[in-house]
Amino acid sequence: MRMNDIIEKKRDGQALTKEEINFFIEGYTNNSIPDYQASALLMAIYFQDMNDEERANLTMAMVNSGEQIDLSAIEGVKVDKHSTGGVGDTTTLVLGPLVAACGVPVAKMSGRGLGHTGGTIDKLEAIDGFHVELSSEQFVKQVNEIKVAVIGQSGNLTPADKKLYALRDVTSTVNSIPLIASSIMSKKIAAGAGAIVLDVKTGDGAFMKTTEDARKLAKAMVQIGNSVGRQTMAIISDMSQPLGRAIGNALEVQEAIDTLKGKGPDDLTELCLTLGSQMVVVGEKADTLEEARIMLQKAIDDGSALEIFKQFIKWQGGNEKVVDDTALLPKADFIFEVSAKNAGFVTYMEADEIGTAAMLLGAGRATKESEIDLAVGIMLNKKVGDQVDEGESLATIYANSENVQEVMNKLHENIHIEAERKEAPPLVYEIIT
Ligand code: URA
Ligand code: CA
Repeated sequence: MRMNDIIEKKRDGQALTKEEINFFIEGYTNNSIPDYQASALLMAIYFQDMNDEERANLTMAMVNSGEQIDLSAIEGVKVDKHSTGGVGDTTTLVLGPLVAACGVPVAKMSGRGLGHTGGTIDKLEAIDGFHVELSSEQFVKQVNEIKVAVIGQSGNLTPADKKLYALRDVTSTVNSIPLIASSIMSKKIAAGAGAIVLDVKTGDGAFMKTTEDARKLAKAMVQIGNSVGRQTMAIISDMSQPLGRAIGNALEVQEAIDTLKGKGPDDLTELCLTLGSQMVVVGEKADTLEEARIMLQKAIDDGSALEIFKQFIKWQGGNEKVVDDTALLPKADFIFEVSAKNAGFVTYMEADEIGTAAMLLGAGRATKESEIDLAVGIMLNKKVGDQVDEGESLATIYANSENVQEVMNKLHENIHIEAERKEAPPLVYEIIT
C-alpha cells in the first residue's frame, strides 16, 4: 500500500477502505508516514468528507493506536458523558452522583485542561483533601461499591489523535466533521466507555457556532458510537450564555451541591435531567427517557443522589462535611457587585467573554503551567430575559485581588441591557437518540 494512492483516492472523492485507513493511522503514529502526506490527506478529507463506514473505521483505528482502559471488572454498562465545552458547565459534578444513584456505573477519567475555569478534577479539588490518584484496583472497587469514581488521566490513550490534532491545528483542518467526531469518540472509547452521551453545545461560547453545524457533529458521533457497539445519544444545547449562575471552581462545587439538593438554577437542573435521562437509558436502567427522568427526580427528592456525592467525596479522601456546610469551600478575600448602569431587560450575555472574565480572576488556566485559584469566580445574578433596575446587581465578583477593574469592565460590556425584553434561547435544541 502506498500513501500517495490513498491521498489521491480521497482527493478524487472516493471512499477509503478499512485497510487503507488503518495503514494511514498506524504509519502516522509510528512516524513512517511524514507530516506532509498526512496533511494532504487531512485536507482531502476536509473537502471530500467521509461516509459513515469510513468515520467508524477511522475512530477505531485511532482507538487501536494506543492503550485502552479495561473496565470489564466493573459491573454494568459503563456510561460516559462528553460535553464539547462551554462556560460554567457544572453538569459533570451533578451527573456523576445523580446517575450513580439510579444504578448506572460512572467510571470517569478526567482532565484538568485549559479554559475559563478548571476541569472536573480542579473543581473537585476545591473540596479539602479530595484526590484523584487512585490505583486501578481502588478505582474498580469504588465504582462497584458506590457506582462513581473519578480518576486522573493516565496511560498512552489515542496517540494518533494527539499527533493528528496538533497537525490539524497548524494546517487549518480542525473544523471538519469526520475529523472532530472521530477524535472525540476515539478518546471516549479508549477510556473504556461502553455507552456514551454527548452534549454538543451551540452558540457564542461554543466550538460549534450554529445549530446546523452542531446537529451535523452530534449525528456523526451518534452514528459512529452506535455502529461500533457503544450505544450513543446526544443533545444539542445552548451555550450563548453561561450555564447556571456559577463560573469558577469552588463556586461551581457549591452550585452542584445546591442542584443535588433540588435547589439549583433552573437551566442547570433541566440540562442535568435531560442528559441524565439519556445516561440512564443507555446504561440500561430504564427503557424510556420519561421513566429515567422520574428516577432521577426521585434521587434528588429523596436525598439519595446527595448521599452518593458525600460517599464519593469520602472515598476519595475529601471532607464530606462540605455538602452540609459549603462555608468549608475555599473563600475569596474580596467581593464586588457589578451594578446595572440602567434599567431594562438582560437581552444577551456573551458566554465566551464572561468566561474570559472568570479566567482573568484566576479561575482558569491560560497555559498548562498556570496555577488555578479555586476560590475566585463570578456569580451571575441575572440571566437573559430577566428584568433589572438601575443599580441592581447583575453579577458578583469573587476575587483575591482588589484590582478587578478589567473584569468589571468586561462584565459591563458583555451583559447587554435593553428596554425591550427578549426571550432566552431554548436550552435544549434537539434530542438525538
Ligand atoms: N475536541 C476534540 O477532542 N477533538 C477535535 O477534533 C475537536 C474538539
Ligand atoms: Ca455553572
